Amino acid sequence: MPVKKNVLENIKKIILVSSGKGGVGKSTVAAGLALSLAREGYSVGLLDADIFGPSVPTLFQLGDAGRPSGTDKNGKKMMLPFEKFGLKIMSIGFFVEPSQAVIWRGPMVTNVLRQLLTETDWGKLDFLIVDTPPGTGDVHITLMQEFYVSGAIVVTTPQKVALDDVHRAIGMLTDDAIGAPVLGIVENMAWFTPTKHPDEKYFLFGKGGGELLSKKYNVPLLAQIPMNEGISENCDSGRVAGMFDDKNIEQAFDQLASKVMTQKQSFKYIKN
Ligand SMILES: Nc1ncnc2c1ncn2[C@@H]1O[C@H](COP(=O)(O)OP(=O)(O)OP(=O)(O)O)[C@@H](O)[C@H]1O
Ligand SMILES: [Mg+2]
Repeated sequence: MPVKKNVLENIKKIILVSSGKGGVGKSTVAAGLALSLAREGYSVGLLDADIFGPSVPTLFQLGDAGRPSGTDKNGKKMMLPFEKFGLKIMSIGFFVEPSQAVIWRGPMVTNVLRQLLTETDWGKLDFLIVDTPPGTGDVHITLMQEFYVSGAIVVTTPQKVALDDVHRAIGMLTDDAIGAPVLGIVENMAWFTPTKHPDEKYFLFGKGGGELLSKKYNVPLLAQIPMNEGISENCDSGRVAGMFDDKNIEQAFDQLASKVMTQKQSFKYIKN
């Protein structure tokens, strides 16, 4: 049956940041990619669609910001995203307590997501980066079924074992009926680099997981991001952009952004 998708006229590309597992750095990668793209001069929005553990408000020190304000646009009530570091930011966390959200049933998740996408006054965006919950569930299905998703980035850690969840996630992302192109893999926490010794690499979590996935699915390994104290410190204290003070981290995210930009030609909308 043909699916009618919402057309978001003002948003050129929607990119999902996903992974099979929790805690691998999706939110960090989504925020870092969005920031790097904005620094390149693109207009960028960041949507935190992680109903089970929204972390974008913390990353951007918006935990106490309250609800977004409303505006009237051509007779329609719209929400204004928060703006930080040149990004337009909207999070499911501005509206619900996580304890509330975890008991939501599919239709409620779908409704809230739909509203966050269609009733936010995003303005004109080159990219809307979407931070998704771990695994594959209602959020991913709704996004891909109801909107034209240009591509997905899969975040993983370097362990070769326990990639099962990632395979499952890629399987869903590449599903014939609803899937979106997988733009590539980001291997996060690829090695440990102490801030004081930026040239040293310790492979704490093994090696090669990102490359393995990239070869298996024939998609690029877009970036390897080191494990670095600067990332967790800055992210936990709401100064996410501060992670770029470390040149290795800045470089890794700039590389990711430029690979995403140069893949433009492979973006395609999936029309049913
Ligand atoms: N490269 C890194 N170096 C150091 N710390 C990191 C790195 N990447 C992520 N972290 C830290 O690891 C924790 C988990 O990262 P993050 O919240 O981005 O993962 P996630 O996949 O979004 O998790 P969840 O599945 O809960 O949404 C955070 O405290 C974050 O600051
Ligand atoms: Mg997260």
